[in-house]
Amino acid sequence: MSTFMLLLLLASSIASLTTSASDDYTDFVYAGCSQPKYTLGSPYQLNVDSVLTSLANAAAFSSYANFTSSAAGGSFPAYGLFQCRGDLPFSDCDSCVRSGLSRLSAFCPSAAGAAVQLRGCFLRYGNDSFLGKPDTSVLYKKCGPAAAGGYNSDQLGMRDAALADLTSGAAGGSYRVGAAGYVQAMAQCVGDQSAKECDDCVAAAVAHLRAVCGFAVAGDAYLGKCYAKYWSNGVYTTSKTDHGDEAGKTLAIIIGLMAGVALIIVFLSFLRRAGHDGKY
Ligand SMILES: *[C@@H]1O[C@H](CO)[C@@H](O)[C@H](O)[C@H]1NC(C)=O
Ligand SMILES: *[C@@H]1O[C@H](CO)[C@@H](O)[C@H](O)[C@H]1NC(C)=O
Repeated sequence: MSTFMLLLLLASSIASLTTSASDDYTDFVYAGCSQPKYTLGSPYQLNVDSVLTSLANAAAFSSYANFTSSAAGGSFPAYGLFQCRGDLPFSDCDSCVRSGLSRLSAFCPSAAGAAVQLRGCFLRYGNDSFLGKPDTSVLYKKCGPAAAGGYNSDQLGMRDAALADLTSGAAGGSYRVGAAGYVQAMAQCVGDQSAKECDDCVAAAVAHLRAVCGFAVAGDAYLGKCYAKYWSNGVYTTSKTDHGDEAGKTLAIIIGLMAGVALIIVFLSFLRRAGHDGKY
């Protein structure tokens, strides 16, 4: 309970629901920044810089890494980690993490703690030791449009079967895929989670998708230490230009990190711009 970290999450309507055919792993999903900022030139800033440099360097040869730096002052350690999607080659993981780092500095300048999720990777740093701790709080979710014709038991059955692949005993691993009929699913845990913690987190993400996405043809649920998503092949492939549907909707994003729970409503019309500015 050491840190009161209030994250303001920014979420983009472009990222998360495109089909794998248009998979761009550097697409922005969400970012969050602590309200407290560090003092420029402080030992803590030097520790953060050191952690972020280590993350950038490690992504070229691993898909998960964590770092702790107290080089510049042991009283103010900084912690950081990244997790790339398990199917990304290291070269793509590397570019994803670098893109994530530049988004963090753009969205969260001097933030004492921050996190960013791109389609292919997740990065987080802060002054609290979140490493190795489970976190199943829902940070961001998005549901696609309802299946044509509304209720469709085939669609629902395939979705449930594809999601069940992610939580079945056979699933295992921090990167998981599932499929049934024309519905596909995947999940990714952060590498600091034990097998049991990953199972629990994915189960929570899947339960959330089932609960909130109804008959949607696609859904994404991002939790503190994992995410799960499903999508229907060929149902739509143009979501990158599909912003009209999102205009005017608001996103409610709940961040519960340690001490605080903040509910922040963010207007997508603003965020769409942020998303584009951050797109390379
Ligand atoms: C982290 O930073 C916040 C804000 O500056 C501070 O209130 C908190 O005590 C710090 N936590 C630790 C573990 O240093
Ligand atoms: C952090 O990294 C170290 C060294 O790479 C590793 O031994 C340790 O298990 C990692 N800790 C977590 C919580 O992942």
